[in-house]
Amino acid sequence: MNFLIKTIGCQMNICESEKLGFALLAYGASKASSFVAADIIILNACCVRSQAEQKAFSYLGRLEEFKLEKSNVKIVVVGCMAERLGTKLKQRFKSVDLIIGAKETDSIALKIVNLYGNNTLKRKKINVVFDVVKYVIVMRGCNNYCSYCIVPFVRGNEKSFSARDIINECILAAENGTKEIILLGQNVNSYLYKNVNFTLLIKKIVSIKNIERVRFMTNHPKDLSDDLINVMATESKVCSHIHLPMQSASNKILKAMNRKYTYEHYLGLISKLRVAIPDINITTDIIVGFPGETEKDFEETLKAIKNIRFGWLYVFKYSHRPRTKIAEMIDDVTLVEKKRRHSIILKESNKISIEIASSMIGSLQTVLVEKVDKGIIEARTESGRKVFINGGNEKYLGLQFNVCIKEAKINSLFGCIV
Ligand code: 5AD
Ligand code: SF4
Repeated sequence: MNFLIKTIGCQMNICESEKLGFALLAYGASKASSFVAADIIILNACCVRSQAEQKAFSYLGRLEEFKLEKSNVKIVVVGCMAERLGTKLKQRFKSVDLIIGAKETDSIALKIVNLYGNNTLKRKKINVVFDVVKYVIVMRGCNNYCSYCIVPFVRGNEKSFSARDIINECILAAENGTKEIILLGQNVNSYLYKNVNFTLLIKKIVSIKNIERVRFMTNHPKDLSDDLINVMATESKVCSHIHLPMQSASNKILKAMNRKYTYEHYLGLISKLRVAIPDINITTDIIVGFPGETEKDFEETLKAIKNIRFGWLYVFKYSHRPRTKIAEMIDDVTLVEKKRRHSIILKESNKISIEIASSMIGSLQTVLVEKVDKGIIEARTESGRKVFINGGNEKYLGLQFNVCIKEAKINSLFGCIV
């Protein structure tokens, strides 16, 4: 049985696809190198914005055509989109054989293997390949019910995983060459398992032998505690980068979004972070064109972006999602206006990003080498910026170096080892 997994979504989806892949390998299945070589094609797709969903639909359309040529190929849809649409997907795409929603977390691989009709397959131990950087999911779901967001509906309520299991996963990775752990969750900073909160979890992870760096994402401003800021400031292994979605700087819009903080509170967090960790890189998410967002509300967000100067940001055009609270309201900002606001924010944030990156030219940065490809080293600064360095080989993989930054672009830096 040859399988192929296509992921359309966030880092969490990528991580879950990887886990599913390992589970299928353990059942004796093999990875297919292409569409054509696959017996089973699995699509793991996001539904947070309709754009991602459209991408998934067009992929399913292509699979439908492919199945006309290869009728015995099985098509499986898993994840958030499968949860949202369930059997409706089958009505639209007749070729889909199995739908497994994001709330189903047990024995997904077995259900897929059974579909192939080969339930004689036995689970075996496989050698998992570990990378220098390992993503570890610490919690799933979300209780926040931001009024625009479908995540709590498709992923369910927050569930934190056992601290012991997480630590064991990190120890195993560290024993196999992983140097950096990235803790993942819809809302990582509200992690709580028995008496272990997120700060305590981080403290346990930084004490693991051979783990040199720890990062985490994504954070809700209302759960960013002084304790967490303190641990970022005092534990040298915790990287000086935080992704802290602001969404908007208009208090009216923040209220309508049910974000449970004001812009002033958010600003207070930014200054606390910058006092405690002077070189911190703060990044964010912004939504433009939320229902009721006037030009004035938008201007407030733009002004905040100019004031705060995020390292980089992701800006999204508001997308109406069924079942969410705000979907009861009219999506009243036109697409043309959303596009205008989107491009203004993007232009401003690109300008700031390049200014910040350029200010690093001539500085020394400690980087961790994540990849070496055709003599080019791909490394990352503590602040999360990618750095390319010429003239490396495999021996550099997983090592930390001091690099002098020579050139800066929006998304990457170029440097040489000193
Ligand atoms: N429309 C636009 N953007 C959204 N996001 C979540 N839901 C929506 C939506 N309905 C954005 C938020 C969130 C990021 C992951 O996706 O900015 O932080
Ligand atoms: Fe969605 Fe809000 Fe939860 Fe983030 S915190 S996943 S935006 S409901």
